[in-house]
Amino acid sequence: MRRSPGRSPTAADAASAGSEGGPLLSVAGLSVSFRTRTGETRAVRDVSFDLAPGEILGLVGESGSGKSTVLTSLMRMLPGNATASAGHVRFGGTDLLALREDRMRRLRGDRIGLIPQRPMTSLSPTTPIGRQLRWHLPAGGDAGGGGGPGGGDRLGELLREVGLGAVLDRLDGYPFEFSGGQLQRMLIAVAALGRRPELLLADEPTTTLDATVQAQVIRLLLELRDRVGLAMIFVTHDLGVISQISDRVGVMYAGRLVETAPVRELFAAPRHPYTRALIGAMPGRHPRGEPLRTIPGTVGGANLLPGCPFAPRCDMAADACGVEHPGARVIGASTVSCHRADEVV
Ligand SMILES: Nc1ncnc2c1ncn2[C@@H]1O[C@H](COP(=O)(O)OP(=O)(O)OP(=O)(O)O)[C@@H](O)[C@H]1O
Ligand SMILES: [Mg+2]
Repeated sequence: MRRSPGRSPTAADAASAGSEGGPLLSVAGLSVSFRTRTGETRAVRDVSFDLAPGEILGLVGESGSGKSTVLTSLMRMLPGNATASAGHVRFGGTDLLALREDRMRRLRGDRIGLIPQRPMTSLSPTTPIGRQLRWHLPAGGDAGGGGGPGGGDRLGELLREVGLGAVLDRLDGYPFEFSGGQLQRMLIAVAALGRRPELLLADEPTTTLDATVQAQVIRLLLELRDRVGLAMIFVTHDLGVISQISDRVGVMYAGRLVETAPVRELFAAPRHPYTRALIGAMPGRHPRGEPLRTIPGTVGGANLLPGCPFAPRCDMAADACGVEHPGARVIGASTVSCHRADEVV
């Protein structure tokens, strides 16, 4: 990732400068593009935010808005066709842009855990699941070694913690022999509990789970935050889940972080028209019998527009919105990129 030259101070800088003890993670001006056969996709554009120790930032936004790309770029795990730049990406006292790859490798897993969006793609289909999970545990942390039945080891303890005691005698099985939800919980167990990271990047960790298991996983993650001060970026499409787990919410649209606000603020007084539309489209937010509300139009090509990416779909769009991108502004406890944000209460 290269450092972007001459970036001007952002709202995130202003917020971090005042925070006590400094943020755990500070991201300023992060942009990522992918080269494809059909041209360039600007997946993430000038994203800035801070995360305090122990804070949970929920990241929402429709499919393709750049949520996963933000997480993979923080881990420096972007594919070869990606180009990334940023003003700064700091984790604790460490400048992640300047870190040598071998040190970055150690940091991944040890201090920053990742729960990938599609658990199957991060697992080898030809290696027993127990063996693969043990790779993510600290050396010497698995007294059971070869992964024998019964799970009387560290891995066994972790899996019991996520309600998977029943699979302990099957850990010599292959990934395809387990359900998506079971695999997801196994990966959560090792990423969040195995090495006790300070930051967990969780990419839709509950999407494949049924409502009961989803509630268990959310409870587990919140408990971890309270017990060990684990900070998290939690990506999901589900605003219901976001409202349960987040301290603060970031809303992404077409690669931009268009609004960040404390969770209560966001639901009580959403400032960006896209945030309002998202909340308005939540099931249960409108009277029974009325058709579900949707956001008219599509996001297609919005990340290439010169002005506000939401302008073509926005019922408040003014002339300026199609021409000039609205910079991030701090209004109350929210940071919002909308020319008309202060007209909304
Ligand atoms: N490896 C890649 N090569 C080319 N384009 C990519 C690649 N990965 C992601 N993109 C593009 O980058 C944009 C952002 O993708 P990303 O996966 O970050 O979105 P997302 O918000 O996580 O979506 P979802 O909710 O569907 O998971 C999309 O337009 C996507 O097509
Ligand atoms: Mg994604």
